[in-house]
Amino acid sequence: MGRSKILSGITGLDKMLNGGIPKSNQLVIAGGPGTGKTLLCLEYLYRGALGGETSIMFSLEEETELLVENMKEAFPGFTEIDRLMAEGKLVIKGMDQASSLIQKDKKGNIFAFTTTITDIEEMIVEAGAHRVAIDSISIMKMFVKDPFEYRGVSTSLVAMLRRQGITALLTMEIETSDKSRLVFEPEFFIYDGIVILYLSGGNEENRVPSIEIIKMRGTQHSFSTVPYEITSDGINLLLIPHKE
Ligand SMILES: Nc1ncnc2c1ncn2[C@@H]1O[C@H](COP(=O)(O)OP(=O)(O)OP(=O)(O)O)[C@@H](O)[C@H]1O
Ligand SMILES: [Mg+2]
Repeated sequence: MGRSKILSGITGLDKMLNGGIPKSNQLVIAGGPGTGKTLLCLEYLYRGALGGETSIMFSLEEETELLVENMKEAFPGFTEIDRLMAEGKLVIKGMDQASSLIQKDKKGNIFAFTTTITDIEEMIVEAGAHRVAIDSISIMKMFVKDPFEYRGVSTSLVAMLRRQGITALLTMEIETSDKSRLVFEPEFFIYDGIVILYLSGGNEENRVPSIEIIKMRGTQHSFSTVPYEITSDGINLLLIPHKE
């Protein structure tokens, strides 16, 4: 029957994934600046929390308060944010709360980042989380500069998340927002799924955001590059009905 799946809750994405994300998959959401990586993570967690799954955001780039504010601003239709946060179903750890994690790693010490992974694991266990987003894992690359060590740290992070039964979205900054110039990062091999957000197409004056699933272990999926819009009720993939 195949692996059990969880619904991302993002309109159109579960259809592209032939029913959802295989449980315990570790996904990279890669894209250029402003493509919607953070908002996509927040919607995934919000939808999960609404459905009763405890969900945690680890932002290594933004303050908790600002992150929540931005989410409410972008998605006025997400009316349950405060309640879910108060109930501990939606946990937002911005860099002010998660900063102890990265401060330890100022020297780019691989052992320090291993400690960070342990700290993240403790918070996951404490909250009883099923869904996690880490925004962004590109931060790790700043601390662990040696490519071999970086791959080792990435592998340990993925192993920890799998061990905890987490289905995670991990954001990654890539240089280009243009599909024709996409470069496959060597660490793409480590993760179960690779999803790319582009900001291209259209013409020079009119950039169109679009999403592509490069790989997804454990399920069939669409290989189409699908435009999307950020609406007040969430991200909306504009699937062409007759191409389903
Ligand atoms: N209130 C809003 N209404 C509509 N679109 C919005 C709103 N707020 C943000 N956006 C869109 O979402 C984009 C930002 O999304 P997000 O912060 O998720 O991007 P990102 O990929 O995480 O960027 P970065 O690489 O800078 O972290 C904005 O550039 C804008 O296009
Ligand atoms: Mg972001």
